[in-house]
Amino acid sequence: MEKFVIEGGKPLKGEIKTSGSKNATLPVLAATLLTDGVCEIRNIPKLRDTLTMCKLLRSLGKTVEIGANKVTVSGSVNNHVADYKLVSTMRGSFCVLGPLLAKLGKAKVSMPGGCIIGVRPIDLHMKGITALGVKSDFEAGYVIARAPRLKGAQMYLGGTFGSSVLATANVMMAASLAHGETVIESAACEPEIEELGDFLSSMGAKIEGQGTPRIIINGVRKLNGINYKMGPDRIEAGTFLLLAAAAKSDILVRDAHYNHLLALIDKLQMIGVDVQKDGADIRVKCKKTLRPANIVTHPHPGFPTDLQAQYMALMAITPGVSIITDRVFPDRFMHIAELNRMGASIRRDAGVAIVEGVKKLFGAPVMASDLRASAALVIAGLVAQGQTQVHRIYHLDRGYEDLDGKLTGLGARVYREKE
Ligand code: EPZ
Repeated sequence: MEKFVIEGGKPLKGEIKTSGSKNATLPVLAATLLTDGVCEIRNIPKLRDTLTMCKLLRSLGKTVEIGANKVTVSGSVNNHVADYKLVSTMRGSFCVLGPLLAKLGKAKVSMPGGCIIGVRPIDLHMKGITALGVKSDFEAGYVIARAPRLKGAQMYLGGTFGSSVLATANVMMAASLAHGETVIESAACEPEIEELGDFLSSMGAKIEGQGTPRIIINGVRKLNGINYKMGPDRIEAGTFLLLAAAAKSDILVRDAHYNHLLALIDKLQMIGVDVQKDGADIRVKCKKTLRPANIVTHPHPGFPTDLQAQYMALMAITPGVSIITDRVFPDRFMHIAELNRMGASIRRDAGVAIVEGVKKLFGAPVMASDLRASAALVIAGLVAQGQTQVHRIYHLDRGYEDLDGKLTGLGARVYREKE
């Protein structure tokens, strides 16, 4: 196991490049199960999660060649069992369910289980595939599902906490090869779903409305191989914007999709950060003391839950009081205790975090609990006085490509050490 050692307080400046989107890559890789053609996908971030998905595809019969930021998938799927060992380590792998059903008419997929950010049920996934005519059972921790021929249907996929990204992805992929028309109402509108829709369209699927709450899919008999380039990771880019604001820096975030980050950018501008679109990049300038502001996370286009922890790190050093509510994952607050170890003043009261900004954070040994919480601790460590050690950085390696290398390029002092 490794840890990050961060010498805080170094001035940061320059350019930082955004990698391809992790959360778009995972369903896109799953979608390659839908074709026997060759899929060549570029700008894939080299991460633990994308490697896990490649392993899962191999276990299902596909041939997967992994290059530098490129993955080529070929061959046919010949196994319908997605193993516990692979699915349990990463929830994203549950979205092989839809493609397996569409291609083989059967699937046995390990249940993804809960995790540190909340309970994370799968009822919306099951509702969606059941509407397509799938019969399913739960047995020994697996979903066992069967449908000789999927049939298009209208369905409502809204849940208690809004729409579901991966349930929408599962249904889109299954419906692409189903017989007839599928209409998903209250579909997830996240850019990752839009990208999956574009990917499926390029494979020959008949799909419209991706990126809106109503997606219409007309099933086709066959999908083709494809050569495709993944778009940038909006959550990684948003993390860099928040880092620039926290470090009071002037940073150019390269290859960042401004329109995918409007909720964050609006909030940053409101609290006094200068954020400008610069072609395909975003420039952030922050030289002054900021004002605090509350956030409530919501599904896209609302403020993303995946940036809540990093925003909290910024508010921790912004004078005044801010209130942070997570309406997508109401228990996603494991980072509070660790930020407080660094001198932050944050308390949790029922479903909200109340942050009283302090003048300074101080370096400390802290424990990463999940991917985005880890990013928040790195931001805090970079602006803290003294040395911070972030333990269990395998969480970061799941979702941030070469983070230490990229931060070093900005002038940060961050290095890896064995635990
Ligand atoms: C995706 O998870 C992302 N993961 C998450 O990113 C992200 O936090 C989340 O969407 C929300 O944006 C990937 O794309 C691989 P959901 P997903 O289903 O699809 C509830 C990160 O850090 N729900 O949209 O699993 C659920 O409990 C990660 O990169 C149901 O009630 O999330 C939550 O409250 C972590 N029933 C809400 O919906 C269901 O069947 C949204 O979850 C499914 C979900």
